Amino acid sequence: MLDLIDGAMCSLQAALFGREVYSREHPAVSGHIECAHDLLTKAFHQMEQVTILAFEDRVVFQNDKLPSSSTLAEGLFRRLHQRGVEAVSFRRGLTRDEIRAMLDQLDEATKEPEKINGSAHIRFGWVGGTEPRGEAQPFKLAGNPRRQAGVVRHVWRDIRTGKPEQGELSTLVADICTSVSLSRGITIPLASLKTHDEYTFVHTINVALLSTALAEEVGMRGDALLDLTVSAVLHDIGKRLIPKSVLNKAGKLTDDEWKIVQRHPVDGALQLFGAPGVPKIAPIVAFEHHMYPGGGYPPVAAGWKMHLASRIVQVADVFDALRTDRPYRKGMSLHEALEVLQKDAGTRYEHALLDAFVQRVAVNTQGELPEAASDVTSIRTA
Ligand SMILES: [Fe+2]
Ligand SMILES: [Fe+2]
Repeated sequence: MLDLIDGAMCSLQAALFGREVYSREHPAVSGHIECAHDLLTKAFHQMEQVTILAFEDRVVFQNDKLPSSSTLAEGLFRRLHQRGVEAVSFRRGLTRDEIRAMLDQLDEATKEPEKINGSAHIRFGWVGGTEPRGEAQPFKLAGNPRRQAGVVRHVWRDIRTGKPEQGELSTLVADICTSVSLSRGITIPLASLKTHDEYTFVHTINVALLSTALAEEVGMRGDALLDLTVSAVLHDIGKRLIPKSVLNKAGKLTDDEWKIVQRHPVDGALQLFGAPGVPKIAPIVAFEHHMYPGGGYPPVAAGWKMHLASRIVQVADVFDALRTDRPYRKGMSLHEALEVLQKDAGTRYEHALLDAFVQRVAVNTQGELPEAASDVTSIRTA
């Protein structure tokens, strides 16, 4: 797959430069566009969307550097960078005309190099560092929450068997990063729950989206940001060991059931520790995401300092849990959820982190759950 994507990007680059040497209609140019289209169409047999990320001197697909990374970083992706673009997604259904329209905007002689517009099957994103320029097309990761939930399910299963499918995890993480960057300052499209069975998986995607957005807001960039997104996807992996009857119980949990629930951070950390392809920070986030100064679980020594990544994921985790309908309580309105979080500002949650979340992330989440019922008495956010 890596060679296929590399070939497609090299063909796009050859078409871009061919247009400047020959002409837009030259057969060599059409040939390169045809070749890029054919290769991407082949890739679409296996995946709905191909997302390529470009860091300063690396062009990456699914966490792997493309074989022609340095040539592409100097060529096609330098033109994209000049327009502020750090991620490009091609989706199934891509046409040759859309490719031509993209190349038109990348011409050296283009009148407004700061502007670039996507199309129905080409989306541009900004991973970090620079503010988006030009018009961003809406990118709906939440368009198919069932498919995304399926990916989370596979990744969780594969980590248990010790053979995580890196491609699926990387694609999900790239989708989340692109989605967040395209939504910056506008809206963060959260997946919505259709059935209670979907909860853990839909919650996982939303926590990853919210954590990534908050991490960007507090200045996290590059590999650290990607590692944080992966860690957010995996934060609740220990829940696989909690029986569904306990996880979805409508009534109050017994003491024994609470003990089972409270084991999931430790179980998660144990599963992730040393798992191939899992960032080192992931077991730490799994272990710490229900802790807070002076309380929470699992119990730790006094003075324990939580990692910033854990504190970011924790805020996102509690917010999503409060907002969502659960068998044992109704989801809260945005306003109510933020009020609950702010009651613990300066104690459970650091002021600066919570302010960034409330003022710049949560307010941009899309959609409102129904108003909370007045009989909300207990809050369970495991
Ligand atoms: Fe969670
Ligand atoms: Fe949890």
